[in-house]
Amino acid sequence: MRAARPKVAAGRPGGGNLAVNRLASVFELIDHVGVAVSDLGRATSLYEGTFGMPVVHRETVESQGVEALLLEVGDGHVELLRPLGPDTAVGRFIAKRGEGIHHVAYRVEDIDATLATLKESGVELIDSEARVGIWGSRVAFLHPKATGGALTELVEPVGGDWRDRGESR
Ligand code: CO
Repeated sequence: MRAARPKVAAGRPGGGNLAVNRLASVFELIDHVGVAVSDLGRATSLYEGTFGMPVVHRETVESQGVEALLLEVGDGHVELLRPLGPDTAVGRFIAKRGEGIHHVAYRVEDIDATLATLKESGVELIDSEARVGIWGSRVAFLHPKATGGALTELVEPVGGDWRDRGESR
């Protein structure tokens, strides 16, 4: 059962925690869950082959030290991440914790405004400015210390929804 979530506009008189209310209205949906894997072929055969999720994008992001594969599931995605080497963020993650869920990413319409709101609210950020993520999106990470240990990413897809880009595998 889904609890009704009041959407309260910022500045509502007596609205209580305005920062929280504002954020509830800008986090659109879970864009993707990032999963760290050491064998991309094996993971792909599970997610694409067995689970039937279509692969919509594949990209090597040297700056982040990963080969990423994006699979579509409903309105969201799974992002499989294979580290390019042991001395990368995802490589160190796997060495320390093993394969598994690496981060959760929320889609936002305006990442600059969202980051400004988060800063105002005192949320610790890894990226205080958005940077380029996969598929030309703009992304920023929140510090896991600020989010109960869950590495959290914000994604502003270029041109709105991924589906609007007319690209395919
Ligand atoms: Co991601």
